[in-house]
Order: sequence, then C-alpha cells, then structure tokens
Amino acid sequence: PKRVRVHHLAEAKARGEKITMLTAYDGVTATILDAAGVDTLLVGDSIGNVMHGHTSTIPVTVDDMIPAARAVARAAKRALVIVDLPFGSYEAGPAQALETSVRIFKETGAAAVKLEGGRRSAAQIRALTDAGIPVVGHLGFTPQSENLLGGPRVQGRGDAAAEALCADAKAVEEAGAIAVVLEMVPVEVAARVTEILRIPTIGIGAGPECDGQVLVWTDMAGMTDWSPRFAKRFAELGRALQQAAVDYVADVKGGTFPDEAHSFEK
Ligand code: KIV
Ligand code: NA
Repeated sequence: PKRVRVHHLAEAKARGEKITMLTAYDGVTATILDAAGVDTLLVGDSIGNVMHGHTSTIPVTVDDMIPAARAVARAAKRALVIVDLPFGSYEAGPAQALETSVRIFKETGAAAVKLEGGRRSAAQIRALTDAGIPVVGHLGFTPQSENLLGGPRVQGRGDAAAEALCADAKAVEEAGAIAVVLEMVPVEVAARVTEILRIPTIGIGAGPECDGQVLVWTDMAGMTDWSPRFAKRFAELGRALQQAAVDYVADVKGGTFPDEAHSFEK
C-alpha cells in the first residue's frame, strides 16, 4: 500500500475527503487497524489510561511512549504514525520539545508528533517544524491540563472562549502544524475553526464538520464497559474477547481442548 504522507492530509482537506485516525499502542492492534485502511495511527498518551491502568495521562513518560511507538511504527505499512509528547516532555520550551521529539524520531520510526496547547505551545511547534519534525496540535479539552480545566468538559462554549479557541488554532497553524485535533468542542466552533484554517482539523467530540475524526481504538471497538458519549461503539469486542476466554476455560477444564486436530503425531 502507498504510504500516507503529510501532504496527503492537506490534499484530503482540499478534496473534501475525511481523514481517519485511531489510537494504537501495540503491534498486533496496529497491524489490524493499518490493514483496515485507517489513514493515521496515533500513539496517544491515552496509553496511560487504556494500557497502564492510570486514571489520567499525567503520569505517562517518554519511556512509556517509546516502545509503544516503535511497535506501532513497525506494524504500520500504510498509515502515518503520530506520537504524543507526554506531559512534562515539552512545556519547558522549544529546546525540551526538540530533545524529546528527536529521541522519539530516532528510536521509533514515527513520522510526526502531537502536543497540546495553542499560543502557549506555538514556539515549540515552530522549533520542531524547523527541525523537520511534523507536528499535530491539540486544542479544546486537552487532557494533560485536566486539573486546570476541571476535568473532561466541553471547551470553547460562549463567544469569548470560542474566539480564544480560534486564536489558538491560528497560532498552531502559523507555527507550522500539519493538522490540529479538536477535542470536546461545540459543533459550531469546530466548524468555524475548520473553515478559518488551511490545515485539517481532526475532531473527537467535535461534531461532523471537522476534516477528520479520531477515536481511542478501545472506545471505537467497544473493548470496555464504559465509553464516552462522543465515541460510537462499532463493535462489542470486549464482550467477544471475554466469551472466547470463557469458552477456552470451559474446553480445557472439560478436556475437549486440546484435541487430535491441535496435537502432533509421533
Ligand atoms: O491520547 C489520545 O488518545 C489523544 C486522542 C484522543 C486525540 O490525544
Ligand atoms: Na493525547
């Protein structure tokens, strides 16, 4: 399959073709999602919640991200692989952001990084872009700031907040970002940002007007009992996996597996 590159995202926006993104944290999942034709795979810092048993993304480290990013980058034959810069690995300034991102690029084979924040992160986005590292922005509800924002809440409600979000989006674009994720933003505000930006917007809980869509893969596939309101469950994989394990246990306990078909002759 032809590799998805940064310019394909801009071309998709120009054509009006929606861009697809799912998170991935490991090779087996990334292989499946890549083969399904998902355009971009995000090694999200949601790995903290999804894979490592944390209740937020705050504890996630670069050392957590690297092996996951390496596995996803190896598995993806077509998708553009984007890696989140975790909390504490870029806020100090452009030099810190560059050091983190260079390490991620050298050690994983990923093709882009993502970081949270608009005007406050513009200098970092500029420095990375100047160094040849494509950057995806992330605005609206930014989970690394959940303590300041008061938990997962819709952002950009009201005229002043909507204007601030537009200014942040412009700053991200002007700093050189290739795309921007909009998380938990009212439909009308996401539509306005999508209209005023040349770069694609990728929505999550941001309505149908964005240039693309992202979901956490375990939410998309219904791996867990609970998923957020904005996430459509396209399967009930958690239930299917649990049933497979129940059947396995019953077969082994009952002596019906392994049988002849799954055993070796002398
Ligand atoms: O970490 C993550 O999964 C993300 C997406 C939800 C955009 O940042
Ligand atoms: Na993230």
